[in-house]
Amino acid sequence: MVSLLPTLSSTLSRLSFLPKPSFHFFSSALRTARLPYRAVTPAPSPPITSLNSSYAVLSMSNQNSPKPITENPPNLSDNFVILGIETSCDDTAAAVVRSDGEILSQVVSSQADLLARYGGVAPKMAEEAHAQVIDKVVQEALDKANVKELDLSAVAVTIGPGLSLCLRVGVQKARKIAGTFNLPIVGVHHMEAHALVARLTEQELQFPFMALLISGGHNLLILARDLGQYVQLGTSIDDAIGEAYDKTAKWLGLDLRRSGGPAVEELAREGDAEAVKFSVPMKQHKDCNFSYAGLKTQVRLAIESRNVRAEIPISSASSEDRSSRADIAASFQRVAVLHLEERCERAIEWALKIEPSIKYLVVSGGVASNKYVRARLNQVVKKTGLKLVCPPPSLCTDNGVMIAWTGIEHFRVGRFDPPPPADEPEDTLIELRPRWPLGEEYAEGKSEARSLGRCCARSTSDFLNYRETWFAAEERTRNGRTRNGRTMSFHPVESDIASSAHKWY
Ligand code: KG4
Ligand code: ZN
Repeated sequence: MVSLLPTLSSTLSRLSFLPKPSFHFFSSALRTARLPYRAVTPAPSPPITSLNSSYAVLSMSNQNSPKPITENPPNLSDNFVILGIETSCDDTAAAVVRSDGEILSQVVSSQADLLARYGGVAPKMAEEAHAQVIDKVVQEALDKANVKELDLSAVAVTIGPGLSLCLRVGVQKARKIAGTFNLPIVGVHHMEAHALVARLTEQELQFPFMALLISGGHNLLILARDLGQYVQLGTSIDDAIGEAYDKTAKWLGLDLRRSGGPAVEELAREGDAEAVKFSVPMKQHKDCNFSYAGLKTQVRLAIESRNVRAEIPISSASSEDRSSRADIAASFQRVAVLHLEERCERAIEWALKIEPSIKYLVVSGGVASNKYVRARLNQVVKKTGLKLVCPPPSLCTDNGVMIAWTGIEHFRVGRFDPPPPADEPEDTLIELRPRWPLGEEYAEGKSEARSLGRCCARSTSDFLNYRETWFAAEERTRNGRTRNGRTMSFHPVESDIASSAHKWY
């Protein structure tokens, strides 16, 4: 088995801030080509530079340099085109994006049916679903963009964080294309891509800026100081907000075919947001971290105490039952978003102390497509004089454009890996990053998070181990098998962990 572990090291070191070995590659010759692009704008397409020639590894002494950027970025004065591939969770996505920000194609194949059937993401099934459609999705992205693989300058692919089984499908596809057509690879951090895609949609958005990233697996508040330089002001100590939306939707018997979030948002419009008195998480912790496991439990208890018959789909519920469910949805949403508002306000204060020149708060990730979330956060930024930037909903939920764009940002400054060998064996060991922090933790945010982490699960890494253990336990239970043949019972916190394991872990 050939180990190619070092090939992604440059990408990994730039985000974890470790002075790991860093290979930098540059093109010794650039090929310029004018491509027959589909007319996406009235203006004629600019020339495309495609990097598709020989690569040279810089001297080994450079590999230990803590400086993440190569001193030899490719000479890319013209536009170039990158293919982005995303398979970290339940969407198989690909897109072709030009370096001037023109989206040439975007294709997403969602596993909505699987989600609706199983009420969450089961890794093995998600992997199979990705494997079934990946070739088609990538081909469609290339066809729609009217480009061939040889017209590309590089392939960008999500290498983490996410489900390793799923990540592997995308990375293998990317390496296959890159190996066959001698293209460099850019390994992308999924959450960084959620943040950076805002720079594609908002041309004015310069570093430093703040970002609230809210998805099914993560809640992150970051200060983006520069490309690849992030300070983590806050993170989720248990479940992310998207997971809470998804479980609320499932327990309320909503239609999960478009994922839980949009279903809760829609039903919440009919409800009274003050009807159920949920408490706002982590009030006593004056930091920027998030917790949604407790709110989930509150929602479940409210559903039980109001005798909501969730086994009856909402479409067949009586009007009284429907209005009861709508009240729960609206009350949940109000408090879930209030938690975001409070953390954002504090994070803005912290961030302005570090970087007084910040002008923007980016809100991205699947949950950022929610209109109520956008409206409430707009109020928060108005108070502080910042401007809110939310990418359009199709670029907030998982997509290939954000991966291609993040690839463009890094490729432009010379951060990429060389083409893999054309004949790379299928069983080659490739490095994936299922857990991958984005930047360094802000010291002021650390202590509170740690003390909470201890009371829940001792430490972040223990917590992650718990999630994995409980996911495995829950999967065995679902399959009717337990380690010792007995039925597993879950402590409330642990069962929250197990249910959230449907996402990511
Ligand atoms: O970023 P994303 O597409 O995938 C992950 O990286 O997890 O986020 C998916 C999450 C899901 O939990 C989904 O329910 C939530 O985003 N979501 C929403 C809305 N649209 C998607 N949550 C609330 N309101 C929405 N409109
Ligand atoms: Zn995402």
